[in-house]
Amino acid sequence: MLETLTTLTQPWADYYSASAWLPTAIIALHVLALFVGGGIALGADRRVLQSTPGRSEAYLAAAADLNATHSIVIAALLITILSGVALFASDVGTFWGSRVFWAKMAALVVLMLNGARMRSTEARLLTNARNTVEMAVAGPDVTAPYQTLRTHAWVSVIGWCAIVVLGVVVANI
Ligand code: HEM
Repeated sequence: MLETLTTLTQPWADYYSASAWLPTAIIALHVLALFVGGGIALGADRRVLQSTPGRSEAYLAAAADLNATHSIVIAALLITILSGVALFASDVGTFWGSRVFWAKMAALVVLMLNGARMRSTEARLLTNARNTVEMAVAGPDVTAPYQTLRTHAWVSVIGWCAIVVLGVVVANI
């Protein structure tokens, strides 16, 4: 497997190591995309963790706000993943044997699964909040998914930070 991968990526690895601009551009793209995607995701997580909505209307607004961030975060994450694959392919032998690299990939899987579950919880919250929007005080069908969203927001904050730290370790150690 490793041998096949190394052979397949060798032309790219040769091209990459012979250029000064290519590694600079790919790393810049990787960091820029994680800065934009992670920044927007952390901002949205922070709003979920800090707000204490009362009425269903406020829960609806909070869920809609979170919903509005998804497409840009997913697009940025996709660019981070594509540029990450290009970085990985530049030196498969080194990264394949790195535990830190695989720990980073595991953290990425956790982050993405958490994101998917966050989206479904948020969709449930949106539906329930719309159905109970006339209630003065929000009931458990709204407050319970919001609590779940808070847990997901914590996992997201920790996940993003862990992946950045592991990424820097992979690049430097
Ligand atoms: C949320 C997603 C990701 C984040 C936040 C992230 C973050 C980072 C950071 C901060 C660095 C250090 C850059 C530097 O100091 O030069 C890095 C490097 C790296 N990343 Fe990622 N990364 C992500 C996804 C990926 C993916 C999906 C892959 C591979 C499939 C990947 C592969 C790499 C590699 C190989 C390096 C080392 C580059 C080098 O040694 O020059 N990353 N990443």
